[in-house]
Amino acid sequence: MMNRIAVIYQSNYGATRQYAEWIAAELDADLFERKMVTKALLKTYAMIIYGGGLYASGIIGSELVANNPCNHLIVFTVGLADPTQTDYTQIMHRAFRTEARQPQQVFHFRGAIDYAKLGVVHRNLMRLLKTVIASKNQTELTPENQAFLATYGRQVDFKDRATIQPLVAYVRELGMA
Ligand SMILES: Cc1cc2nc3c(=O)[nH]c(=O)nc-3n(C[C@H](O)[C@H](O)[C@H](O)COP(=O)(O)O)c2cc1C
Repeated sequence: MMNRIAVIYQSNYGATRQYAEWIAAELDADLFERKMVTKALLKTYAMIIYGGGLYASGIIGSELVANNPCNHLIVFTVGLADPTQTDYTQIMHRAFRTEARQPQQVFHFRGAIDYAKLGVVHRNLMRLLKTVIASKNQTELTPENQAFLATYGRQVDFKDRATIQPLVAYVRELGMA
């Protein structure tokens, strides 16, 4: 018999892992870190829910589900930008280029950052990004840019368990949980 739901995540600092744990608990699903998963496992589940942190407008680890068939694919992203203000069209387009492998549904959640805990590569990337954004004309700043500048160098945590409810409801409506 086919397994029911696998929640697979890739996370650098724990925010995506936290959302994956909340979702798996709510849906009584199996939980896997992306590096533990082979492509053969994907097909053994009726539904794959893939979550990846947003890094430089990429969904980390998304190649796994973008390049290999899944029976029913849901994707969630975790980033610092406010999902109600952010246009994810380009991000999704870059991550899922193959027409036949588009996720059936996508959800976006808000994560966290602690600049004091960033690795050296990420710290330098953020410094570079700050320089680029800060040199823009005020009127050219997107909501994402403004959120970036407002949180730069600080510790912020926007994680919110309640925001997974639309994803949970979607899966329940399908009769999968
Ligand atoms: C180098 C770097 C690049 C990032 N790029 C983005 C981005 O493009 N969009 C966004 O919303 N958040 C971005 N973030 C914020 C992370 O997505 C956020 O901290 C998220 O909670 C990370 O998830 P994780 O803890 O599971 O790794 C970036 C963070 C770092 C350190």
